Amino acid sequence: MSSQIVSLVVNGEPREFIARPGTTLLATLRDSLGLTSAKRGCSQGSCGTCTVLVDDRPVTACLVAVETVSGCSVRTLEGVAVGGDLDEVQSAFVDNFATQCGFCTAGMIMVAEALLDRDPDPSQEDVAEAISGNVCRCTGYQPIMIAILDAARRRRGESAEPGQPVEGTVAR
Ligand code: FES
Ligand code: FES
Repeated sequence: MSSQIVSLVVNGEPREFIARPGTTLLATLRDSLGLTSAKRGCSQGSCGTCTVLVDDRPVTACLVAVETVSGCSVRTLEGVAVGGDLDEVQSAFVDNFATQCGFCTAGMIMVAEALLDRDPDPSQEDVAEAISGNVCRCTGYQPIMIAILDAARRRRGESAEPGQPVEGTVAR
């Protein structure tokens, strides 16, 4: 099959390029558009490090052929900070030491963005479910859970409470 023109709106900016059929969204973002926040982990849809938002929904970009999302809006971690300032989720990850080694962080933040956009007051269970497709190899889900719940409070305009404990264990 021959290459085709693909149009995306990436982080609010219209982008148009030629892609061979089957080229993944992840490869396009990283290798063609130079947006490297979404990481290559498993390339099989099981680790979540490549998660970006397509039309506001989290997708594993390693499994998506870019031509199938032509015309869609794509949001990556590069589009989260506003005017160079970290948003509430990013700030909460920093303040709660949730970045750890940082490899999974972009994917974790993108699922958190999608969760808080649709539910400003999620429960611990909601957060656990939202990140259930994202592997943290540091085995440190507790700080990530705390950070996302803290980000929700910040977005609601409540005072930040870094380090507030979370009950139970988050399994993937
Ligand atoms: S790299 Fe896409 S899910 Fe692992
Ligand atoms: S912070 Fe290291 S893999 Fe999650």
